[in-house]
Amino acid sequence: MKRRAFMNWVGVSFMATSLPVAIAACSPAEDTAEDAAEDVTEAADPCGATEAATEEVDSSVRDDGFAALGTVTELDDAGFLADKDFVAGAVIVIRDPANPDGIIALDSMCPHQGCHVDWTDTEFACPCHGSKFSTDGEVTDGPANEALGSYEAKIEDDLVLIQTT
Ligand code: FES
Repeated sequence: MKRRAFMNWVGVSFMATSLPVAIAACSPAEDTAEDAAEDVTEAADPCGATEAATEEVDSSVRDDGFAALGTVTELDDAGFLADKDFVAGAVIVIRDPANPDGIIALDSMCPHQGCHVDWTDTEFACPCHGSKFSTDGEVTDGPANEALGSYEAKIEDDLVLIQTT
């Protein structure tokens, strides 16, 4: 067998033997009882990333008038936290670019016609008519002509807290 023919034969043989393995590896596996037990163990692990990413916080209003919007971990992972239906009103929170330990909490409702602004990593932008706002909520581009409202906010332990009153 000549070298070229041999290499073609080896290539075809490799594809023929590895294809079923590749297909099996990409197929959804059925969970066994052992897998299910592992899943429960991972979910119960307080140090697990899955737990931190899906953690539910108690957002009821505390005695000091603050309520938790989410965790600092969630804020830092996503770059922002937002809730249109938060107990204090629509809110969006970012890290303060001038003070990495601080946070900025703004009313996410655009003063132009009431759409909710998005965080773009450098500014707030309204998806409806293109208004833009600086990190402190001031208008940098219309048609909005008023700044975003603000909330008092603080970090306590791993919670992002917003004043509700
Ligand atoms: Fe935001 Fe119009 S509602 S720019």
